[in-house]
Amino acid sequence: MKRFHTLPVSLFCIYVVVLQCLHASAQAPSTLRVNAQRIHEHLSALSKFGANPQGGVSRVAYSDADLQGRNYAISLMKQAGLDVHIDASGNIVGTRAGSDASLKPLLIGSHIDSVPMGGNYDGDVGSLSAIEVAHVLQEKQITLRHPLEVIIFQNEEGGTVGSQALGEGLDEKHLNLVSNSGKTIREGTRIVGGDPERLVSARRQPGSIAGYFELHIEQGGTLEREKIDIGVVEGIVGNGRWDVTIDGFANHAGSTPMNQRHDALLAGAKFIEAVNRIVTSIPGRQVGTVGKIQAIPGAYNVVPGRVVLGLDVRDLDQEKIDTLFSKMRNEAEQIGQASGTKFSFHQVVADKPALTDPRLRQIIADAAKQLNLSTKLLPSGATHDAQSMARLAPVGMIFVPSIGGISHSPEEFSRPQDIVNGANVLLGAVQRLDSQNW
Ligand code: HGY
Ligand code: MN
Ligand code: MN
Repeated sequence: MKRFHTLPVSLFCIYVVVLQCLHASAQAPSTLRVNAQRIHEHLSALSKFGANPQGGVSRVAYSDADLQGRNYAISLMKQAGLDVHIDASGNIVGTRAGSDASLKPLLIGSHIDSVPMGGNYDGDVGSLSAIEVAHVLQEKQITLRHPLEVIIFQNEEGGTVGSQALGEGLDEKHLNLVSNSGKTIREGTRIVGGDPERLVSARRQPGSIAGYFELHIEQGGTLEREKIDIGVVEGIVGNGRWDVTIDGFANHAGSTPMNQRHDALLAGAKFIEAVNRIVTSIPGRQVGTVGKIQAIPGAYNVVPGRVVLGLDVRDLDQEKIDTLFSKMRNEAEQIGQASGTKFSFHQVVADKPALTDPRLRQIIADAAKQLNLSTKLLPSGATHDAQSMARLAPVGMIFVPSIGGISHSPEEFSRPQDIVNGANVLLGAVQRLDSQNW
């Protein structure tokens, strides 16, 4: 190694630095790992915004807690070296340049808004892991070939609002819907920093994105029950949601004979039973829920004159959703006639089913295998921003186990190691997709 020893020291130092740079950029995807402690610290810090005394969180879209959570996420995105802006739809977008400007952006993300009295993992795991992926790439000075975008969608729980705005857009009817916070989507979009008058500027064209990956908790019990590390999502259910208004006649609870009542709440109770009977009357994985009810005027001594129910119907097959809903409407007609009440239906969410892209499923499975993690192909019974994104780009979804299959509850929990596994699979999948020329 004579030649080596004769190199002047300065040249030798340059030689070492060059080697290190080459090593960093050529670091095989398999050696990169997320910072587990940082993810857990961020999850714990985010859970403080909208924390409920009994545990879990109420960080409903457009609430003060949502704004605080979003500001926290923005600070993390900046620490991860992302160039952050809020698009006209109110989504938080962190961008990172790639080395090949001719390639389309690769998107990763999820949401951080929650249902009322929800859990600390739904959406949070995917959002914070996506930020962590960017952070690791920055730390290791790795520049991807594709531009990378980390995106936190607004108001996912209100019907994948932010991701729909990116694809199909939001129409007047959508913007006037009232969300869980009591604000309309138009008001809320403005509150979170979007501009409802310029929504078009936030829309993406189909084919303009190389791919979208979303890491999410399973919100079901399959992975835990079968002791599987990673779920590779094959498809996401379609979801129809309606406000069902039942108009009867408010009257005195004491002096109105039972056979002269038009009791809206009794009619509503019969409808709720019918929903369950209709959905369970045919084989399959379809689900139907009446998750909320409002009786007006809502007093002990008044026969309810009006009831508003929240109906949610889901399946991987849109035709089945449509068939189930028309059966429910027919039954409502009959209940109305028999009780002298009138049913009206106002659809508030119409998320179509979406299949993930087989190439991205394979990328996820390969990334998991590289990490010696077991995988299972499974559908998602929950809706996700990925299904809106599927109208725009190839999508892949990564699931990690939900303990007890519990979600949308303060009892929601995913094990720390499972979360880190999911984040490492996301990191590996990003690097694998980055090696493609899509
Ligand atoms: O309702 C859902 O399935 C989702 O959690 N937004
Ligand atoms: Mn979610
Ligand atoms: Mn949810």
